[in-house]
Amino acid sequence: MDLMPENEKPADHTPIGLNVAAPVVAAIARDFSQAMEEGLVKKSGPLKMLPSFLTRPSGREKGLFISLDFGGTNIRVQVVKLEGNGQWQILKMQSLPLRDPRGQYDLTLSTTSAEELFAFLADQIAALADKETRYSLGHTFSFPCNQIAINRAELIQWTKEIRTAGVEGQEVGLLLAEALARKGLQNVRPVAIINDTVGTLLTAAYLDPCADIGTICGTGHNTCYWEPSLNQIVNMESGNFDRLPVTIYDLELDKESEKPGKQRLEKMVAGHYLGELARLIAVKQFGTFLPPYSLDAKGLAQLIAGEDSSLLGLQGQETARVKEIGLELITRSARLVAATFLGVLARIDPGLESRHTIAVDGSLYEKMPGYAAAINKTLAEALGEKAPLVTTKLSKDGSGVGAAIAAALAEERFL
Ligand code: BGC
Repeated sequence: MDLMPENEKPADHTPIGLNVAAPVVAAIARDFSQAMEEGLVKKSGPLKMLPSFLTRPSGREKGLFISLDFGGTNIRVQVVKLEGNGQWQILKMQSLPLRDPRGQYDLTLSTTSAEELFAFLADQIAALADKETRYSLGHTFSFPCNQIAINRAELIQWTKEIRTAGVEGQEVGLLLAEALARKGLQNVRPVAIINDTVGTLLTAAYLDPCADIGTICGTGHNTCYWEPSLNQIVNMESGNFDRLPVTIYDLELDKESEKPGKQRLEKMVAGHYLGELARLIAVKQFGTFLPPYSLDAKGLAQLIAGEDSSLLGLQGQETARVKEIGLELITRSARLVAATFLGVLARIDPGLESRHTIAVDGSLYEKMPGYAAAINKTLAEALGEKAPLVTTKLSKDGSGVGAAIAAALAEERFL
């Protein structure tokens, strides 16, 4: 679906059509602001604008918490001590992949049941929790959920190609509580469920009062922000934004994906898809032979950084060409993502009068060569002399600490 009006379309500066020129960035930012309004007011359009029931923390939240982080790649459990002065300590941590690299298990398949998945999560919690200590648990669950209360969220649909059976449409908190009860973990009480973007923002805001946008640029992509009219953090599920100039490769990737028509922005910008887009382009343009999804973002990063990429299955000349495509794809990703940030800024501070910190987590922003710089360059280009008011900042592992902060905020409310 190509929704960009014909007269606003950019001239293609690359044969593949990956260039996102400044006027296109501006047009996307405008359309994004518009979609935010539609989502908030009319509950329609591509942005779900989901409530979190959380506002920004004061930085004084304190206590010992367990955080469970379920993203798209790993399951991470942490025991987190919030110290109440904007500081924290991670006392214990355990992390396991959702798909065992040696093929022993895969929790993302449609043949895995919700019960098996949540039993696995409860096992990881049991391995870290002290039997004699009582914990409140904050759960980061990085998928679109209808949030009913701080501790109640129903999975709308899986994203990032996950297919585990029996979770869509279910209350994730209940599935976890049941699994914990079955393992006899009565000392662990789940009190908050949040999106990873919300966790990223909470972590940054624990220290920095200017933090009002939280985003993930990793396996998946999404952004949340603090909506002044609601005094609440809103999870936009911006990966589903779809008013974008697409190429034939985007259309092809979407058609072959688990959920065609959904998560169109995510499929153009996120780590799970960038390698596959590069592969599709290479197959069409140079007849490269590589199986679907055999090139991942890590491989692309190696290629771009000029590291040994002999294991990627590319032959001679192909290596240089795929590197080139990869560079164009990551620049496009960064520019599209930056355009959505500009859309949020235009809504929350139309005249751009105040300082804003955009808290970012995720492997693309952290590790992909040139990615963070391309986001910052796009913002600077669009904001001109006001650019110094807007800072992007890595909020590393923010989603785990953020779950602890959410649990502390939930306790304040419940007690
Ligand atoms: C999910 C979001 C999540 C993002 C980053 C997307 O696929 O829909 O909820 O925030 O990935 O993990």
